[in-house]
Amino acid sequence: MAKVIAVMSPKGGVGKTFISYELGIALSKLGHHVLVIDTNIYAANLSLYMGFSHTPTTFNDVIKFSIPPENAIYKFSPSLSILPATTHVEIEDLNFGTKFLRNLLFKLSPKFDYIILDTEPGFTKNNESIIQSVEDILLVSTPDIPTLMTTHKLVLLLNKFGVKKTSLILNKVMKAYYELSDSEIKELMGVDVILKVPFSKQVVKAVSLRLPLEKGRVFNLFMNLAAKISGTELKKKSFFSFLRL
Ligand SMILES: Nc1ncnc2c1ncn2[C@@H]1O[C@H](COP(=O)(O)OP(=O)(O)OP(=O)(O)O)[C@@H](O)[C@H]1O
Ligand SMILES: [Mg+2]
Repeated sequence: MAKVIAVMSPKGGVGKTFISYELGIALSKLGHHVLVIDTNIYAANLSLYMGFSHTPTTFNDVIKFSIPPENAIYKFSPSLSILPATTHVEIEDLNFGTKFLRNLLFKLSPKFDYIILDTEPGFTKNNESIIQSVEDILLVSTPDIPTLMTTHKLVLLLNKFGVKKTSLILNKVMKAYYELSDSEIKELMGVDVILKVPFSKQVVKAVSLRLPLEKGRVFNLFMNLAAKISGTELKKKSFFSFLRL
């Protein structure tokens, strides 16, 4: 059965989609079968990030017309798949509901090692369904006070719903003196910072060109995170590997 991880933040633009994608790639590179579901059904981006130009059947169709989810799953690579949401304008008021989501995850779980949910911003009905269906939440925040304060509200909500595992990824970190330290954040929010991703032009470039990061500092951070999450040991690169002997 798959381990299900929801990547969440009440704030928009903090990096939920980028992180869902890169974590999916990193876990798949470690040999795990991964599905990333775009639950951001009104403003979906994941398929764009992953370079898909056409996904005729989407998560929206699965919700609206009870289409089997398998018909809306696309392969990015042999071990990484996506269940995209529509990139068209969604005019209906679409709440998938907790029962629907639990059934969907139950149905898809045997086929994958990891299911990652990319989520919409806000304290929405759909996010409430996710909180009630998933045990493992990866919060994403930028290191500024307004975003952290709003993220803290979500932490309180997660506590209320009894979510067992919550950790925080700080994204777009600039290592500036005015950014809070890990220990201050832990004190403020009561959650551990498991990863700090720097603000990086390499990320902006990769997202703009719709290419995954496949090497470099930020990519290595995600490989380390994937190894930590899955308990997999990273193969150490040989000192001479750059010579491609
Ligand atoms: N570490 C980073 N360094 C630089 N830019 C980043 C970084 N992470 C994300 N970005 C940029 O921030 C923008 C927003 O990222 P992303 O779409 O992942 O946010 P989001 O939280 O999913 O937004 P939404 O709530 O709208 O779905 C993108 O243009 C992306 O390139
Ligand atoms: Mg997003």
